[in-house]
Amino acid sequence: MTRVLFVTSEVHPLVRTGGLADVSASLPEALGHIGYDVTILLPGYPAAMELTRDAGALHKARLWVDSYDVNLWQTRLPGTAVTLWIVDCAQLFRRPGNPYQNAEGQPWKDNARRFQLFAKVGAKIALGKAGLSWIPEVVHCNDWQSALLPVYLELSSERPSTVFTVHNLASQGLFPQDTFQNFGLPEKSWSYDLLDLKGQLAFIKGGLVFSDRITTVSPGYAEEIQTPEFGCGLEDLLYQRRHELTGILNGIDTRAWDPENDAHLPHHYGPEDIKSKRLCRFQLRQELGLEQTDAALFCFAGRMVKGKGLDWLSDVLPALLKRGCQLAMIGAGTASQASSSEERKFEVAMDQHARDWPGQLSVTIAYDEALVHRVIAGSDLLLMPSRFEPCGLNQLYGLRYGTIPIVNRVGGLRDTVFDVSNNSGEIANGFSFDIPDAAALLSTIERALKYYESRRTWRRIQENAMTGDYSWNRSARLYSDLYQNILAERQHAIWG
Ligand code: GLC
Repeated sequence: MTRVLFVTSEVHPLVRTGGLADVSASLPEALGHIGYDVTILLPGYPAAMELTRDAGALHKARLWVDSYDVNLWQTRLPGTAVTLWIVDCAQLFRRPGNPYQNAEGQPWKDNARRFQLFAKVGAKIALGKAGLSWIPEVVHCNDWQSALLPVYLELSSERPSTVFTVHNLASQGLFPQDTFQNFGLPEKSWSYDLLDLKGQLAFIKGGLVFSDRITTVSPGYAEEIQTPEFGCGLEDLLYQRRHELTGILNGIDTRAWDPENDAHLPHHYGPEDIKSKRLCRFQLRQELGLEQTDAALFCFAGRMVKGKGLDWLSDVLPALLKRGCQLAMIGAGTASQASSSEERKFEVAMDQHARDWPGQLSVTIAYDEALVHRVIAGSDLLLMPSRFEPCGLNQLYGLRYGTIPIVNRVGGLRDTVFDVSNNSGEIANGFSFDIPDAAALLSTIERALKYYESRRTWRRIQENAMTGDYSWNRSARLYSDLYQNILAERQHAIWG
């Protein structure tokens, strides 16, 4: 059994600001099913600490790291058999609200220190310096919050193999150069080839430069991030490492997201018997105060930011509603307590629109997981005009629920949504556009509505969508191949 330490700053259902949390819960479990011994390492945020109390977690170790008193607790990720280790450092992690920002939406001032410490604790564990009997063979880090870990490992001649997964290249963990001085890293790691990004310390470069392999969450995004358009200033580095960079598509939790068994739905349906989807729609309209009509019901779920194409969506909104269509929007609900003013701006504007279009547009600003399930199940079409999308999970939820996605053809969206007009009837499962603007979005919406009017064709598209394989099985195998490859290489390097 290969031992993998899966290092992440979010995991569902304990702490979630985005898709990273979903992946961090499902991938380790799927790897467990194919014989891996996976332990998740997570900072001791309040929800995690509550779990350690309620679940009677085991005290594994007490460490002093850079004069911080750190305790390591072991429990299981709720609802799974996966081992979870929690890095308890009250001073740094036991704070209310968002893991990265305070109640005013400002990043915590000591974020660099918080995630440097997290990485250092991970390195101690991985190098067998935490007094534990379990030592990983592979350390799998995710996003900038754990990206310094491979840097610390590199200081040691005997280290486990490392994989770094990019869930979003735009989040880089940038801090002023003087932050670097306090981290005890060799001076030589401050160079443009290593941790310096235009005069700033970029945590993400730790993962990108120092890991044995880089992965990202779709083949499409893996290609795109080697270009200036999507590379966020890191395209040259990614191009140089292109032979060690792979895109592995995310799966979804097919137990939680199953229209035949979804505990959040008032009615259940599946690809063979889709009739009750209409009942879900009826109830959703009732719940959201939307009129009961024959017109199509669209939905949008997620953060209301420009990156998700909210400006294009605002532009096409009047045309969509004038046609009699309806739109149910559910925002992430993080903006009021945290997040950017940009997100706040779109939320406020959409909220105002909802008042102008009662019965046709519903806007909910809250993180309400159950409602997201009901919105996706009850809608006919799902809008996802993201400007960039490393993988995207909502389109996969939509596909599985027969809620046909309309997407910008980028990243993971282009790997999962196959346009009716470009593909054989066998696999066509949605609609996509190539030109990134509002006009293309609108004409794609209009094209989709034509298909929507033809019941038989629509049913066929829904069937294609609902019968696709969105489980983690395939992707977990690809990660497994990757782990085995790097393990074989390292053995070769040590003995060769
Ligand atoms: C980030 C990306 C999203 C991806 C998710 C999980 O949230 O924006 O596209 O699906 O991470 O990898």
